[in-house]
Amino acid sequence: MKIGMDKIGFFTPPTYVDMVELAKVRDVDPNKYLIGIGQEKMSIASNNYDAVAMAANAAQAILTEEDKEQIDMILFATESGVDQSKSGATWVHDLVGIQPFVRSVELKQACYSATAGLQLAMGHIALHPESKVLLLASDIAKYGLNTGGEPTQGAGAVAILLSAEPRILEIEKESATYTEDIDDFWRPNYSELAFVDGKYSNEAYLNTLKASWGRYKDQQHANLSDFEALVFHVPYTKMGRKALQALEDEMTEEVTERFNTYYESAIRYNKTVGNIYTGSLYLSLLSLLEQADELPSDARIGLFSYGSGAVGEFFIGKVQAGYKDYLQTTAHEAQLNNRHKLSIEEYEDLLTHPVEVDEAGNASFTASEVISKEDFIFMAVREHRRQYGKMN
Ligand code: HMG
Repeated sequence: MKIGMDKIGFFTPPTYVDMVELAKVRDVDPNKYLIGIGQEKMSIASNNYDAVAMAANAAQAILTEEDKEQIDMILFATESGVDQSKSGATWVHDLVGIQPFVRSVELKQACYSATAGLQLAMGHIALHPESKVLLLASDIAKYGLNTGGEPTQGAGAVAILLSAEPRILEIEKESATYTEDIDDFWRPNYSELAFVDGKYSNEAYLNTLKASWGRYKDQQHANLSDFEALVFHVPYTKMGRKALQALEDEMTEEVTERFNTYYESAIRYNKTVGNIYTGSLYLSLLSLLEQADELPSDARIGLFSYGSGAVGEFFIGKVQAGYKDYLQTTAHEAQLNNRHKLSIEEYEDLLTHPVEVDEAGNASFTASEVISKEDFIFMAVREHRRQYGKMN
Protein backbone atom coordinates (compact mmCIF):
# COMPACT_ATOMS: atom_id res chain seq x y z
CA MET A 1 0.00 0.00 0.00
CA LYS A 2 1.27 3.48 -0.89
CA ILE A 3 1.06 6.15 1.83
CA GLY A 4 1.89 9.82 1.44
CA MET A 5 0.78 13.32 0.49
CA ASP A 6 -2.60 13.56 -1.17
CA LYS A 7 -2.86 17.35 -0.91
CA ILE A 8 -0.50 20.16 0.04
CA GLY A 9 -1.08 23.89 0.41
CA PHE A 10 0.32 26.89 2.21
CA PHE A 11 -0.55 30.24 3.68
CA THR A 12 1.60 33.26 4.35
CA PRO A 13 0.47 36.55 5.91
CA PRO A 14 -0.42 39.31 3.44
CA THR A 15 2.44 41.66 4.48
CA TYR A 16 6.16 41.54 3.70
CA VAL A 17 9.42 43.45 3.93
CA ASP A 18 11.63 44.05 0.91
CA MET A 19 15.19 42.90 1.67
CA VAL A 20 16.86 45.68 -0.33
CA GLU A 21 14.98 48.31 1.68
CA LEU A 22 15.90 46.57 4.93
CA ALA A 23 19.57 46.35 3.89
CA LYS A 24 19.68 50.08 3.13
CA VAL A 25 18.23 51.03 6.51
CA ARG A 26 20.65 48.64 8.26
CA ASP A 27 23.55 50.10 6.25
CA VAL A 28 24.37 46.72 4.71
CA ASP A 29 25.21 46.04 1.05
CA PRO A 30 21.88 44.73 -0.40
CA ASN A 31 23.82 41.94 -2.14
CA LYS A 32 24.61 40.46 1.24
CA TYR A 33 20.90 39.76 1.72
CA LEU A 34 20.08 39.04 -1.93
CA ILE A 35 23.11 36.84 -2.74
CA GLY A 36 24.99 36.15 0.51
CA ILE A 37 21.83 35.09 2.38
CA GLY A 38 19.71 34.52 -0.74
CA GLN A 39 16.49 36.25 0.33
CA GLU A 40 14.44 38.82 -1.65
CA LYS A 41 11.43 39.38 0.61
CA MET A 42 10.26 38.13 3.98
CA SER A 43 6.68 37.68 5.15
CA ILE A 44 5.86 39.50 8.35
CA ALA A 45 2.92 38.46 10.51
CA SER A 46 0.83 41.22 12.06
CA ASN A 47 -0.73 40.40 15.44
CA ASN A 48 -3.82 39.00 13.71
CA TYR A 49 -1.87 36.17 12.09
CA ASP A 50 -0.52 33.87 14.78
CA ALA A 51 0.52 30.23 14.27
CA VAL A 52 -3.05 28.97 14.77
CA ALA A 53 -4.68 31.43 12.38
CA MET A 54 -2.06 30.76 9.68
CA ALA A 55 -2.47 26.98 10.03
CA ALA A 56 -6.26 27.26 9.84
CA ASN A 57 -5.92 29.31 6.65
CA ALA A 58 -3.56 26.79 5.08
CA ALA A 59 -5.94 23.96 6.00
CA GLN A 60 -9.16 25.58 4.80
CA ALA A 61 -7.66 26.08 1.34
CA ILE A 62 -7.08 22.35 0.74
CA LEU A 63 -9.90 20.54 2.57
CA THR A 64 -13.23 19.43 1.10
CA GLU A 65 -16.29 18.52 3.20
CA GLU A 66 -15.50 14.86 2.51
CA ASP A 67 -11.93 15.27 3.84
CA LYS A 68 -13.31 16.87 7.02
CA GLU A 69 -15.45 13.76 7.61
CA GLN A 70 -12.52 11.39 6.99
CA ILE A 71 -9.72 13.09 8.96
CA ASP A 72 -9.18 11.27 12.27
CA MET A 73 -5.87 12.82 13.33
CA ILE A 74 -4.57 16.42 13.35
CA LEU A 75 -0.86 16.93 13.99
CA PHE A 76 0.19 20.54 14.58
CA ALA A 77 3.95 21.08 14.30
CA THR A 78 5.18 24.42 15.60
CA GLU A 79 7.74 26.23 17.72
CA SER A 80 5.51 29.34 17.86
CA GLY A 81 2.84 27.71 20.01
CA VAL A 82 0.35 30.06 21.68
CA ASP A 83 -0.37 27.94 24.78
CA GLN A 84 1.76 25.68 26.97
CA SER A 85 -1.06 23.17 27.44
CA LYS A 86 -3.73 23.33 24.75
CA SER A 87 -2.60 22.29 21.28
CA GLY A 88 -3.02 24.50 18.23
CA ALA A 89 -4.69 21.50 16.59
CA THR A 90 -7.82 21.92 18.74
CA TRP A 91 -8.45 25.47 17.53
CA VAL A 92 -7.84 24.52 13.90
CA HIS A 93 -10.16 21.54 14.33
CA ASP A 94 -12.99 23.89 15.30
CA LEU A 95 -12.20 26.70 12.87
CA VAL A 96 -12.15 24.52 9.75
CA GLY A 97 -14.99 22.24 10.95
CA ILE A 98 -13.47 18.75 11.18
CA GLN A 99 -15.63 15.90 12.55
CA PRO A 100 -15.25 15.42 16.35
CA PHE A 101 -13.81 11.89 16.60
CA VAL A 102 -10.25 13.03 16.01
CA ARG A 103 -6.89 12.71 17.78
CA SER A 104 -5.46 16.28 17.99
CA VAL A 105 -1.96 17.10 19.24
CA GLU A 106 0.91 19.60 18.97
CA LEU A 107 4.50 18.51 18.26
CA LYS A 108 7.79 20.28 19.00
CA GLN A 109 11.42 19.83 18.00
CA ALA A 110 12.42 23.11 16.35
CA CYS A 111 12.06 22.94 12.54
CA TYR A 112 12.08 19.14 12.53
CA SER A 113 8.72 18.38 14.18
CA ALA A 114 6.57 18.35 11.01
CA THR A 115 8.71 15.46 9.79
CA ALA A 116 8.09 13.61 13.07
CA GLY A 117 4.39 14.27 12.37
CA LEU A 118 4.71 12.90 8.87
CA GLN A 119 6.25 9.69 10.18
CA LEU A 120 3.59 9.33 12.90
CA ALA A 121 0.93 9.78 10.24
CA MET A 122 2.56 7.10 8.07
CA GLY A 123 2.36 4.58 10.92
CA HIS A 124 -1.23 5.53 11.71
CA ILE A 125 -2.38 5.14 8.12
CA ALA A 126 -0.53 1.81 7.80
CA LEU A 127 -2.69 0.56 10.69
CA HIS A 128 -5.87 2.32 9.51
CA PRO A 129 -5.75 2.62 5.72
CA GLU A 130 -9.13 4.36 5.55
CA SER A 131 -8.02 7.32 7.66
CA LYS A 132 -6.74 10.69 6.59
CA VAL A 133 -4.31 12.76 8.65
CA LEU A 134 -4.07 16.55 8.58
CA LEU A 135 -0.47 17.65 9.17
CA LEU A 136 0.08 21.35 9.91
CA ALA A 137 3.41 23.17 10.13
CA SER A 138 3.03 26.79 11.18
CA ASP A 139 5.57 29.28 12.49
CA ILE A 140 6.76 32.86 12.86
CA ALA A 141 10.56 33.21 12.76
CA LYS A 142 11.55 36.18 14.93
CA TYR A 143 15.12 37.10 15.83
CA GLY A 144 14.56 40.79 16.48
CA LEU A 145 15.68 44.09 15.02
CA ASN A 146 19.36 44.63 14.19
CA THR A 147 20.35 41.04 14.95
CA GLY A 148 22.38 38.67 12.76
CA GLY A 149 19.28 36.56 12.27
CA GLU A 150 17.06 39.48 11.21
CA PRO A 151 17.30 38.84 7.42
CA THR A 152 16.35 35.19 8.01
CA GLN A 153 12.92 35.81 9.57
CA GLY A 154 9.59 34.89 7.96
CA ALA A 155 6.07 33.61 8.65
CA GLY A 156 3.72 31.03 7.19
CA ALA A 157 2.06 27.65 7.41
CA VAL A 158 1.94 24.50 5.31
CA ALA A 159 -1.00 22.07 5.43
CA ILE A 160 -0.64 18.51 4.15
CA LEU A 161 -3.32 15.84 3.86
CA LEU A 162 -1.83 12.36 4.20
CA SER A 163 -3.63 9.22 3.09
CA ALA A 164 -3.29 5.82 1.47
CA GLU A 165 -3.05 5.91 -2.34
CA PRO A 166 -1.82 9.55 -2.36
CA ARG A 167 -2.10 11.57 -5.57
CA ILE A 168 0.99 13.77 -5.11
CA LEU A 169 3.88 12.08 -3.30
CA GLU A 170 4.32 8.61 -1.88
CA ILE A 171 6.64 8.59 1.17
CA GLU A 172 8.98 5.61 1.32
CA LYS A 173 9.12 3.86 4.69
CA GLU A 174 12.92 3.71 4.96
CA SER A 175 14.59 6.80 6.39
CA ALA A 176 17.55 7.75 8.59
CA THR A 177 17.22 9.93 11.69
CA TYR A 178 19.94 11.54 13.82
CA THR A 179 19.81 13.28 17.23
CA GLU A 180 22.49 15.26 19.05
CA ASP A 181 21.98 17.52 22.10
CA ILE A 182 23.49 20.90 21.09
CA ASP A 183 22.70 24.61 21.56
CA ASP A 184 22.81 26.07 18.06
CA PHE A 185 19.38 27.75 18.12
CA TRP A 186 16.81 27.78 20.91
CA ARG A 187 14.04 29.90 22.45
CA PRO A 188 13.59 29.69 26.23
CA ASN A 189 10.06 30.06 27.61
CA TYR A 190 10.80 33.59 28.83
CA SER A 191 11.80 34.91 25.42
CA GLU A 192 9.66 36.08 22.47
CA LEU A 193 12.77 36.01 20.29
CA ALA A 194 15.02 33.12 19.28
CA PHE A 195 18.63 32.89 20.44
CA VAL A 196 21.11 31.59 17.88
CA ASP A 197 24.79 30.86 17.42
CA GLY A 198 24.58 31.57 13.69
CA LYS A 199 27.82 30.13 12.33
CA TYR A 200 27.63 27.11 14.61
CA SER A 201 24.02 26.49 13.50
CA ASN A 202 25.17 26.35 9.86
CA GLU A 203 27.84 23.80 10.80
CA ALA A 204 25.39 21.77 12.89
CA TYR A 205 22.94 21.70 9.96
CA LEU A 206 25.63 20.37 7.60
CA ASN A 207 26.95 17.83 10.12
CA THR A 208 23.43 16.53 10.68
CA LEU A 209 22.86 16.32 6.92
CA LYS A 210 26.04 14.26 6.49
CA ALA A 211 25.16 12.03 9.47
CA SER A 212 21.60 11.28 8.32
CA TRP A 213 22.41 10.91 4.62
CA GLY A 214 25.47 8.78 5.55
CA ARG A 215 23.30 6.48 7.66
CA TYR A 216 20.66 6.21 4.92
CA LYS A 217 23.32 5.52 2.28
CA ASP A 218 24.96 2.76 4.33
CA GLN A 219 21.72 1.07 5.34
CA GLN A 220 20.01 1.25 1.93
CA HIS A 221 23.15 0.97 -0.26
CA ALA A 222 22.01 4.21 -1.87
CA ASN A 223 23.76 6.69 -4.11
CA LEU A 224 22.84 10.35 -4.70
CA SER A 225 22.31 9.57 -8.38
CA ASP A 226 19.27 7.50 -7.29
CA PHE A 227 17.43 10.79 -6.84
CA GLU A 228 15.93 13.13 -9.39
CA ALA A 229 16.21 16.08 -6.99
CA LEU A 230 17.12 16.95 -3.40
CA VAL A 231 14.97 19.18 -1.21
CA PHE A 232 16.25 20.69 2.04
CA HIS A 233 15.08 22.53 5.11
CA VAL A 234 15.59 26.12 3.92
CA PRO A 235 16.16 28.63 6.76
CA TYR A 236 17.48 30.98 4.04
CA THR A 237 18.13 29.92 0.48
CA LYS A 238 21.93 30.08 0.65
CA MET A 239 21.80 27.30 3.27
CA GLY A 240 20.47 24.77 0.77
CA ARG A 241 23.27 25.75 -1.63
CA LYS A 242 25.76 25.03 1.15
CA ALA A 243 24.05 21.65 1.63
CA LEU A 244 24.40 20.82 -2.07
CA GLN A 245 28.07 21.85 -1.96
CA ALA A 246 28.66 19.66 1.09
CA LEU A 247 27.51 16.63 -0.91
CA GLU A 248 29.22 17.57 -4.18
CA ASP A 249 32.12 15.11 -3.66
CA GLU A 250 29.64 12.28 -4.09
CA MET A 251 28.05 13.60 -7.29
CA THR A 252 28.95 13.37 -10.94
CA GLU A 253 28.93 16.61 -12.93
CA GLU A 254 25.63 15.66 -14.49
CA VAL A 255 23.98 15.00 -11.11
CA THR A 256 25.38 18.25 -9.69
CA GLU A 257 23.91 20.19 -12.60
CA ARG A 258 20.54 18.45 -12.29
CA PHE A 259 20.30 19.08 -8.54
CA ASN A 260 21.34 22.72 -8.94
CA THR A 261 18.73 23.31 -11.64
CA TYR A 262 15.94 21.80 -9.55
CA TYR A 263 17.16 23.77 -6.54
CA GLU A 264 16.30 27.04 -8.33
CA SER A 265 12.65 25.91 -8.61
CA ALA A 266 12.67 24.58 -5.06
CA ILE A 267 13.55 27.96 -3.53
CA ARG A 268 11.27 30.29 -5.47
CA TYR A 269 8.70 30.43 -2.69
CA ASN A 270 11.19 30.35 0.21
CA LYS A 271 13.13 33.25 -1.31
CA THR A 272 10.14 35.55 -0.91
CA VAL A 273 8.60 34.12 2.28
CA GLY A 274 11.67 33.60 4.51
CA ASN A 275 12.11 30.98 7.20
CA ILE A 276 8.86 29.36 8.33
CA TYR A 277 10.70 26.88 10.57
CA THR A 278 8.61 23.66 10.65
CA GLY A 279 7.12 24.37 7.23
CA SER A 280 10.31 25.43 5.41
CA LEU A 281 11.22 22.00 4.00
CA TYR A 282 7.64 21.46 2.85
CA LEU A 283 7.38 24.95 1.34
CA SER A 284 10.51 24.12 -0.66
CA LEU A 285 9.01 20.79 -1.75
CA LEU A 286 5.84 22.60 -2.81
CA SER A 287 7.89 25.16 -4.71
CA LEU A 288 9.69 22.37 -6.57
CA LEU A 289 6.46 20.54 -7.42
CA GLU A 290 4.71 23.72 -8.58
CA GLN A 291 7.54 25.67 -10.20
CA ALA A 292 9.65 22.99 -11.95
CA ASP A 293 8.49 21.36 -15.19
CA GLU A 294 6.57 18.14 -14.53
CA LEU A 295 8.89 15.64 -12.85
CA PRO A 296 8.86 12.11 -14.29
CA SER A 297 6.37 9.86 -12.50
CA ASP A 298 8.01 7.68 -9.84
CA ALA A 299 10.95 10.11 -9.71
CA ARG A 300 12.49 9.85 -6.24
CA ILE A 301 13.13 13.06 -4.31
CA GLY A 302 15.56 13.01 -1.38
CA LEU A 303 14.35 15.21 1.50
CA PHE A 304 16.44 16.51 4.39
CA SER A 305 14.64 17.78 7.49
CA TYR A 306 16.63 19.69 10.14
CA GLY A 307 15.57 21.06 13.51
CA SER A 308 18.07 22.81 15.73
CA GLY A 309 18.87 21.29 19.06
CA ALA A 310 19.31 19.03 16.95
CA VAL A 311 17.37 16.37 15.03
CA GLY A 312 17.68 15.56 11.34
CA GLU A 313 16.11 13.03 9.01
CA PHE A 314 16.79 11.99 5.43
CA PHE A 315 13.80 10.41 3.70
CA ILE A 316 12.38 9.88 0.23
CA GLY A 317 9.25 10.98 -1.62
CA LYS A 318 8.16 9.36 -4.86
CA VAL A 319 6.33 11.59 -7.37
CA GLN A 320 2.91 10.31 -8.48
CA ALA A 321 1.79 10.43 -12.13
CA GLY A 322 -0.38 13.48 -12.87
CA TYR A 323 0.46 15.18 -9.52
CA LYS A 324 0.33 18.66 -11.06
CA ASP A 325 -3.47 18.36 -11.40
CA TYR A 326 -3.80 18.27 -7.60
CA LEU A 327 -1.70 21.35 -6.80
CA GLN A 328 -2.99 24.93 -6.36
CA THR A 329 -0.19 26.68 -8.22
CA THR A 330 -2.19 29.67 -9.49
CA ALA A 331 -3.68 30.41 -6.07
CA HIS A 332 -0.27 30.15 -4.39
CA GLU A 333 1.37 32.47 -6.92
CA ALA A 334 -1.47 34.98 -6.50
CA GLN A 335 -1.14 34.82 -2.71
CA LEU A 336 2.56 35.67 -2.93
CA ASN A 337 2.15 38.36 -5.57
CA ASN A 338 -0.77 40.13 -3.87
CA ARG A 339 0.99 40.77 -0.57
CA HIS A 340 1.31 44.35 0.68
CA LYS A 341 4.78 45.80 1.23
CA LEU A 342 5.44 47.24 4.69
CA SER A 343 7.74 50.22 5.14
CA ILE A 344 10.66 49.49 7.45
CA GLU A 345 9.02 51.76 10.07
CA GLU A 346 5.78 49.73 9.90
CA TYR A 347 7.74 46.47 10.17
CA GLU A 348 9.72 47.73 13.17
CA ASP A 349 6.53 48.93 14.81
CA LEU A 350 4.92 45.48 14.36
CA LEU A 351 7.91 43.63 15.74
CA THR A 352 8.15 45.81 18.82
CA HIS A 353 4.43 45.72 19.69
CA PRO A 354 3.45 42.12 20.48
CA VAL A 355 0.00 41.45 21.95
CA GLU A 356 -0.10 42.30 25.65
CA VAL A 357 -2.64 40.74 27.97
CA ASP A 358 -3.75 42.80 31.01
CA GLU A 359 -4.19 41.45 34.54
CA ALA A 360 -7.82 40.55 33.91
CA GLY A 361 -6.73 38.43 30.96
CA ASN A 362 -7.99 40.74 28.22
CA ALA A 363 -6.23 42.05 25.15
CA SER A 364 -7.59 43.74 22.14
CA PHE A 365 -5.48 45.27 19.46
CA THR A 366 -5.96 47.28 16.33
CA ALA A 367 -6.59 44.98 13.41
CA SER A 368 -3.99 45.13 10.69
CA GLU A 369 -5.06 47.23 7.72
CA VAL A 370 -4.32 44.25 5.48
CA ILE A 371 -6.69 41.38 6.18
CA SER A 372 -8.72 39.33 3.74
CA LYS A 373 -12.32 38.62 4.75
CA GLU A 374 -11.68 34.98 3.83
CA ASP A 375 -8.90 34.61 6.40
CA PHE A 376 -9.19 33.26 9.91
CA ILE A 377 -7.52 35.71 12.25
CA PHE A 378 -6.58 36.01 15.91
CA MET A 379 -8.92 38.76 17.13
CA ALA A 380 -8.61 39.25 20.88
CA VAL A 381 -8.08 37.67 24.29
CA ARG A 382 -11.09 37.66 26.65
CA GLU A 383 -10.52 36.43 30.21
CA HIS A 384 -7.39 34.58 29.08
CA ARG A 385 -9.27 32.84 26.23
CA ARG A 386 -8.04 33.42 22.70
CA GLN A 387 -10.68 34.48 20.19
CA TYR A 388 -10.42 33.54 16.52
CA GLY A 389 -12.75 34.26 13.61
CA LYS A 390 -13.18 36.08 10.32
CA MET A 391 -13.79 39.81 9.79
CA ASN A 392 -17.37 40.53 8.80
P1 HMG B 1 26.03 36.95 9.22
O1 HMG B 1 27.16 36.99 10.17
O2 HMG B 1 25.12 38.11 9.18
O3 HMG B 1 26.50 36.83 7.76
O4 HMG B 1 25.23 35.60 9.51
P2 HMG B 1 27.93 36.48 7.10
O5 HMG B 1 28.88 37.58 7.38
O6 HMG B 1 28.34 35.07 7.43
O7 HMG B 1 27.50 36.57 5.58
C1 HMG B 1 26.58 35.67 5.06
C2 HMG B 1 27.01 35.35 3.65
O8 HMG B 1 26.86 36.55 2.86
C3 HMG B 1 28.47 34.94 3.51
O9 HMG B 1 28.52 33.95 2.52
C4 HMG B 1 29.15 36.22 3.00
O10 HMG B 1 30.33 35.96 2.25
C5 HMG B 1 28.05 36.74 2.10
P3 HMG B 1 28.90 32.44 2.91
O11 HMG B 1 30.26 32.49 3.46
O12 HMG B 1 27.92 32.02 4.00
O13 HMG B 1 28.77 31.68 1.64
N1 HMG B 1 28.17 38.20 1.81
C6 HMG B 1 27.96 38.73 0.58
N2 HMG B 1 27.62 38.16 -0.59
C7 HMG B 1 27.47 39.00 -1.66
N3 HMG B 1 27.63 40.36 -1.60
C8 HMG B 1 27.96 40.95 -0.43
C9 HMG B 1 28.13 40.13 0.73
N4 HMG B 1 28.45 40.38 2.02
C10 HMG B 1 28.46 39.18 2.68
N5 HMG B 1 28.12 42.27 -0.38
C11 HMG B 1 23.60 33.89 9.38
C12 HMG B 1 24.46 34.87 8.60
C13 HMG B 1 22.84 33.00 8.43
C14 HMG B 1 24.51 33.03 10.28
C15 HMG B 1 22.61 34.70 10.26
O14 HMG B 1 21.69 35.37 9.45
C16 HMG B 1 21.84 33.85 11.28
O15 HMG B 1 22.31 33.63 12.39
N6 HMG B 1 20.60 33.36 10.90
C17 HMG B 1 19.78 32.53 11.78
C18 HMG B 1 20.36 31.12 11.95
C19 HMG B 1 20.13 30.22 10.75
O16 HMG B 1 19.29 30.46 9.90
N7 HMG B 1 20.89 29.11 10.71
C20 HMG B 1 20.74 28.13 9.65
C21 HMG B 1 21.10 26.72 10.09
S1 HMG B 1 20.19 26.24 11.57
C22 HMG B 1 18.59 25.91 10.98
O17 HMG B 1 18.37 25.82 9.82
C23 HMG B 1 17.52 25.79 12.02
C24 HMG B 1 16.56 26.96 12.10
O18 HMG B 1 15.68 26.97 10.99
C25 HMG B 1 15.79 26.91 13.42
C26 HMG B 1 15.01 25.65 13.78
O19 HMG B 1 15.41 24.52 13.56
O20 HMG B 1 13.95 25.85 14.41
C27 HMG B 1 17.30 28.29 12.10
